Amino acid sequence: MKIKPAKLINGKIELPGDKSISHRAALIAAMATGETRIENFSPSADCASTLSCLGELGVEIKREDSSVLIQGVGKSGFQKPLKPLDCGNSGTTMRLLAGILAGQNFESVLIGDESLSKRPMKRIIEPLEAMGAKIESQNGCAPLKIYSKSSLKAISYELPVASAQLKSCVLLAGLNASGKTFLSEPPALAGGRNDENRNPEFRPSAHADGSDSRTRDHTERMLRFFGVDIEKNAGTICVSGENNLNARDIEIPGDISSAAFFIVAAACLKNSVVLIENIGLNPTRTAIIGVLRRCGVEIEISDEREICNEPRGNISVSGDFDLKNDFGSGIICGDVTASLIDEIPILAVFGTQIENGLEVRNAEELRVKESDRISAMCENLQRMSAKVEEFPDGFRIERSDLKGAKIDSFGDHRIAMAFAIAALFATGETEIAGAECADVSFPGFFDVLKQMAKNDREGVCQSF
Ligand code: S3P
Repeated sequence: MKIKPAKLINGKIELPGDKSISHRAALIAAMATGETRIENFSPSADCASTLSCLGELGVEIKREDSSVLIQGVGKSGFQKPLKPLDCGNSGTTMRLLAGILAGQNFESVLIGDESLSKRPMKRIIEPLEAMGAKIESQNGCAPLKIYSKSSLKAISYELPVASAQLKSCVLLAGLNASGKTFLSEPPALAGGRNDENRNPEFRPSAHADGSDSRTRDHTERMLRFFGVDIEKNAGTICVSGENNLNARDIEIPGDISSAAFFIVAAACLKNSVVLIENIGLNPTRTAIIGVLRRCGVEIEISDEREICNEPRGNISVSGDFDLKNDFGSGIICGDVTASLIDEIPILAVFGTQIENGLEVRNAEELRVKESDRISAMCENLQRMSAKVEEFPDGFRIERSDLKGAKIDSFGDHRIAMAFAIAALFATGETEIAGAECADVSFPGFFDVLKQMAKNDREGVCQSF
């Protein structure tokens, strides 16, 4: 994809359904009894992987445009697959499905593409084995062979990493375990939500149940929506294996992680006006809004409401402010990092446009995402002549004049999209190799960008 600089971006848009919520809707609907209709299901390749794995497991699925109809089989009613289950590029598919499969009465194998086959799975193997599952891996990576185990036992487990995929894996396994499974998230990191002096803006609004989840809580919300009794108390979540799930129709909000690209573009290009409607505003996902506001971006939220247990609303942003990093030490770190983990690539690009730059720490998880995102971001930013320093757990980026360059997506959708936005602020043309991987989360991203970004002459993006 070739991208030219833009003067502004403009428009009113609705974005595809949230990827994280769509995965959960499909998996949990499959574990329920009855029929579930999911509206605004994510068109992402990742969520297609989840649907195709469920199909291999005997779940009847009909898909029409953005609606998906799922005939639930009950939480232990899946059928033995005839071939390995291909999770493609999707860590969420593999980790959440492993939690469901660990309690089934048949053997199954989970495989993924080259990137997914390098990502750490020991984090899910350990708790699942503590529950009684037997899983074979390649040195802690996929392929994962999950042996037949019809009954699991509940455990009490403290998550060693702040990962919603790991949390969700254990919660879903807990639905097929005897007894009550207790899960707690790791103690807050310094500089996180509990350190008022450092990042006062980022405390998430208190959850209705008084808990303070560090990682996204879509699984807990979706399970409750399907009638599961989930108790949350002072950072501990409890689910009992006695719960059954009842099918319910769902409507998925737009994906805030996709919205972040356009919010940043609008913030950095003066005279932009963007309205994004019906977007998910779950407080475990909105830290990006807090960071941008703290740097001077005026973001308005309207029509806030809750549908199917998930908050949503409209976001509008117009780019007409002086951007500067104005929070405490100027460092994004601690628990905040976990709350905006998927937005860090676009935040790095944003960092090049603000007065005193941006530093991100405690983000070592980025090294084991779809690519090593710390090194992918630093390398591509350097190619665009940005001043950047790489740390084992993050990076520091200075305000820089970006120059168009040849960029590598490293096969990572969020890197491809973040640098498509960087190209709008650069001088000269940028060429992104492997840009088609944007389809992993956001097919149509470049069409939306083409429609919204304006320069003096012809359009800004062109595939070749
Ligand atoms: C996700 C959780 C996050 C995130 C990923 C989606 C989810 O991963 O980076 O894109 O849907 O639960 P971790 O839970 O591994 O941090």
